[in-house]
Amino acid sequence: MIRRSLSLSPLLSNGVRRTLPLLFSPSPHRSLPFSSSSSSSQENGSDVNPQPAAAISIDRSGLYNPPAHSHEPSADSELVKHLKSIIKFRGGPISVAEYMEEVLTNPQSGFYINRDVFGTEGDFITSPEVSQMFGELVGVWTMCLWEQMGKPEKVNLVELGPGRGTLMADLLRSSSKFANFIKSLDVHMVECSPTLQKIQHNTLKRVDEVVSEEESTSRSTRTLSGVPIHWHSTLEEVPLGSPTIIIAHEFFDALPVHQFQKASRGWCEKMVDVSDDSSFRFVLSPQPTPALLYLMKLCRWAGLEKISKLEHMEVCPKAMELTQQIAKRISSDGGGALIIDYGKNEIISDSLQAIRKHKFVDILDNPGSADLSAYVDFASIRHSAEEASEDVSVHGPMTQSQFLGSLGINFRVEALLQNCTEEQAESLRTGYWRLVGDGEAPFWEGPDDQAPIGMGSRYLAMAIVNKKQGVPVPFE
Ligand SMILES: C[S@@+](CC[C@H](N)C(=O)[O-])C[C@H]1O[C@@H](n2cnc3c(N)ncnc32)[C@H](O)[C@@H]1O
Repeated sequence: MIRRSLSLSPLLSNGVRRTLPLLFSPSPHRSLPFSSSSSSSQENGSDVNPQPAAAISIDRSGLYNPPAHSHEPSADSELVKHLKSIIKFRGGPISVAEYMEEVLTNPQSGFYINRDVFGTEGDFITSPEVSQMFGELVGVWTMCLWEQMGKPEKVNLVELGPGRGTLMADLLRSSSKFANFIKSLDVHMVECSPTLQKIQHNTLKRVDEVVSEEESTSRSTRTLSGVPIHWHSTLEEVPLGSPTIIIAHEFFDALPVHQFQKASRGWCEKMVDVSDDSSFRFVLSPQPTPALLYLMKLCRWAGLEKISKLEHMEVCPKAMELTQQIAKRISSDGGGALIIDYGKNEIISDSLQAIRKHKFVDILDNPGSADLSAYVDFASIRHSAEEASEDVSVHGPMTQSQFLGSLGINFRVEALLQNCTEEQAESLRTGYWRLVGDGEAPFWEGPDDQAPIGMGSRYLAMAIVNKKQGVPVPFE
């Protein structure tokens, strides 16, 4: 899996250059089971059982349980009331995308808005939370691109959807010795959740400074290395005019998807409605919907042969529009973007999933209490970027294991293992497996249901760069 490592300039502490043996021998990549049976709908607005298939692939480590169902009657939450009122006043069902957007980012009660959803105590865990090595190696990528950009004196470093701020903290800490790079940075965190903005603020603030309540909610701060950090709710708010490096880790998978299902009358959009017993249910739209325009674009890109084999399709207009925005920004200001997420390099069939407390749950069950995410269609990202500007080039996707392996994760883990306790070594090995392994860790001796699951081949990395920058590391 990780067979080579680039000689990248001495970016990693201790700069080990010898070829290291693989710490583990991960099994060869295997393709993911990709269920299309979850949450299918019937025609003519009839009810369907929206229960996700137990075989659906899961891309955040440690998730493998079938959905937990709650049959106990409970009072409607504010978000459920809100969703039902939209459906009632609209006089009909809403798209899955509108449902997903409300569930995740409704300003009052969306899943991300009022709490910390990460880590073992939360609902899922992400790569930056798994190991410091992730943020450090994304830092290596960022510095390499900055070098390729001609070491500009001023750079906007933008992170989309920074979660707890852990990736940025590891990136800045590990690159703090590179004074010219650090001096050039203006960091912009694009985050819609006020709660997470506050957590990011605390993660990144000067550690030697007591931060008052007022300060911890302000829109900017400085890290220990003096890097100015600003917060925004959208990418549009980040000022234009300086070379820009954008990082999006597990951001695109949170963007709302429209779902379509093949029916006797053609491709119909799947919608969310309220049934007679007041629960949510899926129905198919009786007439064409605006999202069909995006679906047609996807079909043109994918080709008829591919489409004819599918029964379900997902399309994410927000991902297509965001990619265009990124491509245009990079084309006018210079720089590049790194997108890491779980997904495929082709049209996605039926991937939307709900995760609560590290378990799959029903997509329609108690909305707002579970994360909703969908596979990222990297092919549509490529097409959207190329369509938006002739001045950008798109590279990848490659697997996360290839990406981190080429950036030197083997060297880094070896270096860290040389100076740590037995407990830390255990955690490093587990983290390493989660980042670059494939399937269950073969060395695991603990309880089966806690075995670390590798994300190495399920997560993909793609770069969009201004052509002036040449081919970015490690996509050569
Ligand atoms: C799955 S989490 C990933 C967090 C982080 N990148 C990580 O890897 O730990 C998605 C992040 O994107 C943010 N987010 C989701 N939708 C957003 C939107 N439309 N605009 C801004 N931020 C959003 C969430 O609040 C959260 O911080």
